Amino acid sequence: MTKNTLTITDNRTGQGYDIPIEHDTINAMDLRQIRVNEGDFGMMSYDPGFKNTASTKSNITFIDGGAGILRYRGYPIEQLAEKSKFLEVAYLTLFGELPDKEAYDAWVYDIRHHTFLHENMKSLMQAFRHDAHPMGMFISSVAALSTFYPEARNVMDPEVRAKQIVRLISKVPTIAAFSYRHSKGLPYVYPNNDLTYAGNFLAMLDKMSESTYEVNPVLERALDVLFMLHVDHEQNCGTATMRVIGSSQTDPYTAMAGAAAALYGPLHGGANEAVLRMLVEIGDAKNVPAFMEGVKKRERLLMGFGHRVYKNFDPRAKIIKGIADQVFEVTGRNPLLDIALELERIALADDFFIERNLYPNVDFYSGIIYQAMKFPVSMFPVLFAIPRTVGWLTQWQELLGDKTQKIARPRQIYLGADERDFVPMHKR
Ligand code: CMC
Repeated sequence: MTKNTLTITDNRTGQGYDIPIEHDTINAMDLRQIRVNEGDFGMMSYDPGFKNTASTKSNITFIDGGAGILRYRGYPIEQLAEKSKFLEVAYLTLFGELPDKEAYDAWVYDIRHHTFLHENMKSLMQAFRHDAHPMGMFISSVAALSTFYPEARNVMDPEVRAKQIVRLISKVPTIAAFSYRHSKGLPYVYPNNDLTYAGNFLAMLDKMSESTYEVNPVLERALDVLFMLHVDHEQNCGTATMRVIGSSQTDPYTAMAGAAAALYGPLHGGANEAVLRMLVEIGDAKNVPAFMEGVKKRERLLMGFGHRVYKNFDPRAKIIKGIADQVFEVTGRNPLLDIALELERIALADDFFIERNLYPNVDFYSGIIYQAMKFPVSMFPVLFAIPRTVGWLTQWQELLGDKTQKIARPRQIYLGADERDFVPMHKR
């Protein structure tokens, strides 16, 4: 019979240790018993970027990076993208099961009736500079919401938590749309609760003086699918940040502002913006080979390629590529698509990318669709943050309900100066 343990021999002392294995994982704290002498702190593991460290047990999202599989609560992303709707997927992600009709209707009603912002939030947003980046406005405004709902601090009260979750999912499209209108110098448009989640968002972006605004159903569905694809992605940088901040029991608005800040970076949710800027800079498919030489010489990254977890095609990228044609039928073809296709064609046949398992990720095609839909590039990370709100809050709930979780507090290996005496300035 095989024993579910790992045997480690410390060659410094000759001592052997049997460490239990659970779920193919050892508990890092079990390493601490490995010591050279009594006063020793004990063995740690070193893992910058947490490449091989599980920080939680989770029931939310499953990813098999080698096989290109993504499932929310067990349901394959492909089935959800084809058959479901964003708010249904949001319910599934948060509560663990698909809703029946009654639960779904009540959920949609709740979300639709919390979309308005306090008028002072509007004044606060109006105070930003005319050219403020919408993601900077989004992050700051989400944090500011915490001051409007001070009871949100009672994070251990499930009812209080549930209320803030509804508020946040309802209000992020309004904040996002106000940020966009601000950057265009246009008056903010209030929510229309008769429309769908995606439809209302599009209306808040576009509406001018028309008394009834017609949402294009193809674009509405495309955005709803894009939202579904971005709901959750287990312990990525933004979500890990949500859990780290949440672990000190900060209110969800402030914690989510931190998660959104992590998402903003070009290596994470800012990547779709970076992809677009890269495609514009390349300018023409004929310039692709020269650009790729630069990537291989490590002068720059091929944005929208590579992933920490997927070492095969990102399943979300496949679905997005599939909906691009439907969007282009309405908007006209985005000429940047030709450059993207040429980049992909060359990369998938090139040893540099093959050896490193570099495939298009979710951001490679989403930006092209967003641009065709007339979103400015600066809105791209905001479009990512809206649906990811659901994932952040679900992970935050799971964290707070998990008795084994502790405040996040990593260790370090100190390599700095040893103790030394202070030197007065005139002697330095
Ligand atoms: N272009 C060129 N080379 C790359 C790229 C790329 N996009 N990505 C990785 N590599 C190389 C990297 O230089 C390294 O080569 P070597 O082993 O010879 O040193 C190897 O591939 C492994 O890369 P890594 O940086 O160790 O991988 P990682 O897991 O730490 O990073 C990543 C993952 C997504 C940050 C990285 O692939 C990257 O920077 N991609 C471009 C930015 C991007 O598209 N980000 C969106 C990610 S998906 C959505 C999201 O998370 O928000």
